[in-house]
Amino acid sequence: VRRLNELLERLERRFEDPVSSAGSAGSAERSGDPAAEPAACDLPGGHHCSGTWHWRDDGGAGSAYERCPRAVERRRQAAAAQVPGEQTFETFEALLEPDGFRAARRWAADCGAGEAPLALLRTGSRPNTGCGKSHLLRAAARELTRAGRWVELATAWDLTAAVRGRALYDAAERAAAEVAAKRWIACEALLLDDLGQEETAPAPTAGFLIGLLEERAGRQGRGARSLAFATNLTEPELTQRYGAALASRLLAGALVPDLQGRDYRRRRQEQP
Ligand SMILES: Nc1ncnc2c1ncn2[C@@H]1O[C@H](COP(=O)(O)OP(=O)(O)OP(=O)(O)O)[C@@H](O)[C@H]1O
Ligand SMILES: [Mg+2]
Ligand SMILES: [Zn+2]
Repeated sequence: VRRLNELLERLERRFEDPVSSAGSAGSAERSGDPAAEPAACDLPGGHHCSGTWHWRDDGGAGSAYERCPRAVERRRQAAAAQVPGEQTFETFEALLEPDGFRAARRWAADCGAGEAPLALLRTGSRPNTGCGKSHLLRAAARELTRAGRWVELATAWDLTAAVRGRALYDAAERAAAEVAAKRWIACEALLLDDLGQEETAPAPTAGFLIGLLEERAGRQGRGARSLAFATNLTEPELTQRYGAALASRLLAGALVPDLQGRDYRRRRQEQP
C-alpha cells in the first residue's frame, strides 16, 4: 500500500494543473452534487476505477496507472465554470460584511507570519448562510496563490471523501484519501470550507482533523500552520459537535470576525 501511495502522490503532482492550484478550483469541482459522481468505468479484468484513478491489482500491492478520464473531465469542466476573478476580495461588497472582509484580508496578508486561524463562524443568533464565507475563503486562497503560496481548500465534500476513504478496505479509495490528507498536511495554508456539513460522523471527522492539525503544528517554516475555516456553527456548537480537543485547536487565538450574516443569495433574488 505504501508503494501505491507514493505512486499516487507522484501522479497527483504530475496532474496538478495550474488552473486547479490557482484559486483552488480543484476542490470546487467536487463541491457539486455528490449524486452526480459517476459510477466506476468499465475496465478490463484486474483493472479498477476508483472514480479518481485507474489501478490494477499487480499481485497485491496494486498500482495506479492513470487518472480516471471522467475525473479529468469533471475537473476541466469545473475549472471552466469558475469565472476567473469572480470570487476575489475585489468583487466582495465589503460594506455588507466589514468585519469578515477585514479579517479575511488580514489573515491572507499575515499568512506568512501570522499563526492565528481565521474562523468564519456564526457569532450571534443570526444564521450566516450565504453571507460570503466561501467567497472570502476563495478570495484569500486566490490572493495567497498569486503570491506563490501552496494553498489547499478542502470542502465538506472533500473532507467526507477523505474520512470515509480512510476507513475503506478498497486500496485505491484509501490511497486517494491518503493523498488528500498528505496534501492538507504539507500545504502552507489550509482552508476548510463548510465545516459541519460533512456526511461523516463527528467523532471520526474530529479524529482525522486533530491528527491533521497536530502534524501541521509540528512543522516549521513560514506560514506552515496557517489555517482558515468557515462553518454555519457557533463556537459552542463546534465544541459540542467535535469535542473540546478539536474546538480548541480551531479556535485558539483565532480571528473571529463578527459576521452580519445577511444572505447574499436571497438579496440577489430580491433585486435582479
Ligand atoms: N459581500 C458580498 N459581495 C459580493 N458577493 C457576495 C457577498 N456575499 C456573498 N456573495 C456571493 O453570494 C454567493 C453566496 O456566498 P457564499 O457562498 O460565499 O456564502 P457562504 O457564507 O459560504 O454560505 P453557506 O453558509 O451556505 O456556505 C456567492 O456567489 C458569493 O460570491
Ligand atoms: Mg459556503
Ligand atoms: Zn474511471
